[in-house]
Amino acid sequence: MRTLRLLADEQRQVSREEQQLLARWSGWGAVAEIFDEQRSGWTREREQLRELLDERAYAAARRTTINAHYTDPTYVQAIWRAVQDLGFQDGLVLEPGAGAGTFIGLAPPGAQMTGVELDPTTAAIAQALYPDATIRAESFAQSPYRAGHFDAVVGNVPFAGVRLHDPRHNRGGHSLHNHCIIKSLALTRPGGIVAVLSSRYTLDAQNPAARREMNALGDLIGAVRLPSGAHQRAAATNVVTDLLLLRRREPNTTPTSIAWEQAPTVELGGARERLNGYYLEHPQHVLGRLAITSGQYAAPSLTVQADARALPEALTEALSEITTRAWRNGQAMSARGSAPAADRAALAPATGLWDGRRERCGGVWPRDPCRVSLRSRI
Ligand SMILES: C[S@@+](CC[C@H](N)C(=O)[O-])C[C@H]1O[C@@H](n2cnc3c(N)ncnc32)[C@H](O)[C@@H]1O
Repeated sequence: MRTLRLLADEQRQVSREEQQLLARWSGWGAVAEIFDEQRSGWTREREQLRELLDERAYAAARRTTINAHYTDPTYVQAIWRAVQDLGFQDGLVLEPGAGAGTFIGLAPPGAQMTGVELDPTTAAIAQALYPDATIRAESFAQSPYRAGHFDAVVGNVPFAGVRLHDPRHNRGGHSLHNHCIIKSLALTRPGGIVAVLSSRYTLDAQNPAARREMNALGDLIGAVRLPSGAHQRAAATNVVTDLLLLRRREPNTTPTSIAWEQAPTVELGGARERLNGYYLEHPQHVLGRLAITSGQYAAPSLTVQADARALPEALTEALSEITTRAWRNGQAMSARGSAPAADRAALAPATGLWDGRRERCGGVWPRDPCRVSLRSRI
């Protein structure tokens, strides 16, 4: 924070040493305790932060503790490789919820990166680290890009049970992670690629409304479910996530599959759990053994058990199968045409159970979801 303040005061380029220091930033999710007024052990740090951040920056920092968990560079590299294997060479690429910019730092040379980050402190760090990228310190709900502006979207979308006000891209009232994916698809031009990590509840939630909206905009080329420990090293969470590879559909074409809109219940070791139809058709893309386990304080939940050491190889293999099949099925990235993206797909309101509801109060990610209000607005 002090380095950032110095840079702002002196209005100068960041030095190499300062960049090295800023590159160690691991996000507010790693220090969520500071904001908990009940914790007396963090009083000094809290006071220091209050001195360094203005009211708005402090509030944004506190607000993003629930989803500011950054992606292990191993997966970032694998995602970029998959996007390139699907045909990406150069173009405009968006990262919604950019954090400190790991996807930007590992982008191929032809990618002109735009990162959107809610927390102004983190956005300033990303901008100092990657001066050539466009970093917008704003909520993605307010990002004003035209439909079809980007050639690709990459990232790890923020997860939260909040519904943000976005009359153009969230009329369905979807929770933050699904809203980000729907808007990402809308901002991608036909034939472009959206490759994002999201909570398993994007695919497994009982309510198919968000998936229907996604499918109205783009085809699911493939998905890979990562093991429970996949984010332990970088983000200290055992949350189960999926890597989704979607292709923005050309206007007047129909979805190649609707199987992934549904998440029927399946039996797992005597318990019943929802599992997306895609994984019923492609069980080899679940990189581990599905099981229902209960922690000491947590309710029973789905886990994906696997040896973390074998993960990079398993992920490479699954992604290679998906990208090879995409080329065979005509689902690779196509060149930017002159046709504008279809403005808006059919709307499927998210009535009934909201996606991710099971992670409130006691789940592992967000860390303290009970603090999140469903009435939150930006
Ligand atoms: C799961 S982290 C991923 C960070 C980075 N993309 C990565 O993969 O390392 C999600 C990020 O989204 C940011 N975020 C949360 N809500 C947001 C919003 N409404 N608009 C933009 N960014 C948001 C958080 O501050 C956090 O940095």
